[in-house]
Amino acid sequence: PRVAVVVVAAGSGTRLGAGAPKAFVGLDEHTILRHALRGVFAGPRAQVVVVAPDGREGDALTDVLEAAGARRDLASVVTGGATRQGSVAAGLAAVWPDVDVVLVHDAARALVPPEVFARVVDAVEEGLPGVVPVLPVIDTIKRIEGNAVQAAVDRSQLAAAQTPQGFRRDILDTAYAVADEEFTDDAALVAAAGHPVYVVDGDPLGFKITTPADLERARSLVHPVAP
Ligand code: C5P
Repeated sequence: PRVAVVVVAAGSGTRLGAGAPKAFVGLDEHTILRHALRGVFAGPRAQVVVVAPDGREGDALTDVLEAAGARRDLASVVTGGATRQGSVAAGLAAVWPDVDVVLVHDAARALVPPEVFARVVDAVEEGLPGVVPVLPVIDTIKRIEGNAVQAAVDRSQLAAAQTPQGFRRDILDTAYAVADEEFTDDAALVAAAGHPVYVVDGDPLGFKITTPADLERARSLVHPVAP
């Protein structure tokens, strides 16, 4: 395939406090990772590289082979690093030579619908160097200093970034090769390397499972409680 998806799942899940690496916490009978991979494999045909915590590669392989179905030849697992950025770099190193579009996706965004993957791939294939799915910011955001509210922030100029973020493969590889600090996401890393990044519509289901409340929300969306 010309497309690869790097699914980073090597985080510890400290903030979730569920006693296991976050990707392996169950939503129903399936893990967060398994749910994330369902969306990935329902999207455009792509190589899928899962980046697993050290020691959990076997569990990640079980999830990815189950989720892949007929696409299992496209799936692989590599070991992650100490930071998200290190984990993405480990995944990028496993991307096949013929790939020219790479998506980077947080396993913790377990419920992203396949259409978002398609939207991001299409935008990069149509020529954009980098693409981020976003949602409008709903809350009024304050810039603060200590306990003092500073100047107002114009909400129309803000957007909340999600994943999968998609990039031309050559641009992402080069941006990773020259990155000399930790960035909060791949779009910031690519922008720092001098490339313009554009937005496409994200999806409310693209929220990141971070806190116990997020986990409860994800579980209720997977297993809705009867009224
Ligand atoms: O911690 P947070 O939820 O923001 O992490 C975002 C994603 O990055 C998660 O899917 C997590 O598994 C992944 N990650 C990683 N390697 C790390 C830290 C985070 O793959 N060292």
